[in-house]
Amino acid sequence: MYRNRTCGELTIADVNKQVTLAGWVARVRKMGGMTFVDLRDRYGITQLSFNQEVNHDLFEQVNKLGREWVVQVIGTVAERSSKNMNIPTGEIEIIVSELTVLNASKTPPFTIETETDGGDDIRMKYRYLDLRRDAVRKNLELRHKMAFETRRYLDERGFLEVETPVLIASTPEGARDFIVPSRMNPGEFYALPQSPQLFKQLLMVSGFDRYFQIVKCFRDEDLRADRQPEFTQIDCEMSFVDQEDVLNMFEGLTKHLFKAIKGVEIPDFERMSYTDAMKLYGSDKPDTRFEMKFVELKDLTEDRDFVVFDSAEYVGAICATGCASYTRKQVDELTDFVKRPQIGAKGLIYVRYSEDSSLKSSVDKFFSEDDLRKWAERCNAKPGDLLLILPGETEKAQKQLCELRLEMGARLGLRDKNIYKCLWVTDFPLLEKDEELNRFFAKHHPFTSPKAEDIDMLDTNPAAVRASAYDMIINGVEIGGGSIRIHNSELQKKMFSVLGFSDERAEEQFGFLMDAFQYGAPPHGGIAFGLDRFVSIFAGLDSIRDCIAFPKNNSGRDVMIDAPAKVEKEQLDELGISSKPTN
Ligand code: AMO
Repeated sequence: MYRNRTCGELTIADVNKQVTLAGWVARVRKMGGMTFVDLRDRYGITQLSFNQEVNHDLFEQVNKLGREWVVQVIGTVAERSSKNMNIPTGEIEIIVSELTVLNASKTPPFTIETETDGGDDIRMKYRYLDLRRDAVRKNLELRHKMAFETRRYLDERGFLEVETPVLIASTPEGARDFIVPSRMNPGEFYALPQSPQLFKQLLMVSGFDRYFQIVKCFRDEDLRADRQPEFTQIDCEMSFVDQEDVLNMFEGLTKHLFKAIKGVEIPDFERMSYTDAMKLYGSDKPDTRFEMKFVELKDLTEDRDFVVFDSAEYVGAICATGCASYTRKQVDELTDFVKRPQIGAKGLIYVRYSEDSSLKSSVDKFFSEDDLRKWAERCNAKPGDLLLILPGETEKAQKQLCELRLEMGARLGLRDKNIYKCLWVTDFPLLEKDEELNRFFAKHHPFTSPKAEDIDMLDTNPAAVRASAYDMIINGVEIGGGSIRIHNSELQKKMFSVLGFSDERAEEQFGFLMDAFQYGAPPHGGIAFGLDRFVSIFAGLDSIRDCIAFPKNNSGRDVMIDAPAKVEKEQLDELGISSKPTN
């Protein structure tokens, strides 16, 4: 037997027991006639103790060990004289009687400790060593628990996990597909699924009625902290449900995960329409951990010859509580923040509502104190507050104000990672217009049902049609999204035509779906959660990379295995793909 106990479990209650442990040498401390080794495995660290006087040969042997060697020890548990109460095994040590080296190790390129000296790149290259570190391993343990509790919750409610294919044809979900050439069908390609959307709908036609799958999805899109080219969805679909049924089921799942894993009771989720979310927060995924809602001031700013406001379609303000005391430098920093190219505002207008009730602004030349007081009243501002105002074209100015609001939230410490605010955003528009191409795209995907009361507007005013679509937001992050689907082949056809698909193209791409809908498709709907994002929120991570065992970097590369990589010419020839360089 290599071991009978782990490095994380021995306590004072085990004193005098004989144990066999195996693990990695985390640290060797030589102190005169004594040497101490921290032995690490997945479960923790246990101190091993070697005394030169007691066993000289063993002492010689231990002093040759290097970091990350794999060893097995047999010894007796003893109470430590100097205890470390920060770790569960900190009251004991092992007086070792036998030491076997199971494998030597090269010196690792960075220290495998909570606070490592390794930069991002080197840790990604040696990810298998990074995964030995506590912090990273804990995220994977959390991920396992969340997937496990999800399966438990859904299984208890009659959901079946069904696997759907990975080599499929392209599904239109907005991002680019990764494509895979088919050797047996030269010139033809599979696509990797962006999600199992069509298959889960077909499973509903098959009568499975409650499906889920924890499934890899692939999207060839620009990467960000919350996006990976391959990521995992908790993908779900239900039959004979309306929107309320789906929201309740998955609000329940989310509450269950918080309770089972974090011991946190989440109250019923807030609900907000897409229109309100945009109007009050300038975002369809508002961070509702703090208020600071947008207030529209346009009507109060007119006729004062201030051309910046007069020419603006929108003038929006946020009230930063207690910030009237901001120094010139602090206000300049905020101005620089909104003027960064990623945000793109031309400037920032502010009103200080001082503790003595006087009001001063950066536009005093145009507005009297009375004017400013009206703005302050509308913003519910109190003496001591600072109004921050951005004018412009509505959508743009709202986006800028949204960034400013998030920045202020962060500066004021209002975005505490240990507070969780869950929100459903509902009533999304069905369609989104691409002004350049002058055509509509599905905001969610082409299988999302319009709201019954809006269907008539598909012909007359498509932009105004709302969808039975919903997103689940936690702390400003879109964790999941779904919709009630179209289950009627005529309406689906109509939707394809609004989206500008010719009958032939719709038939070619989705003929199988429209056929299937003619064989008794039940009303159905569903949702998919991004597991990586869900875990990141639970773990308080800034990037989903940290909860993925082997993630890609920002250029979509796996630097450990060096993928993507070139392939042999013969391999390309066999696939009927030209190996000529493109430039
Ligand atoms: P959607 O495209 O909204 O919906 O995706 C669902 C959830 O998947 C996560 N997600 C991602 N996570 C990491 N990296 C990515 N590149 C990435 N892209 C998406 C997000 C998102 O909320 N088939 C529909 C669902 C449905 O209608 O049932 C779909 O895929 O957390």
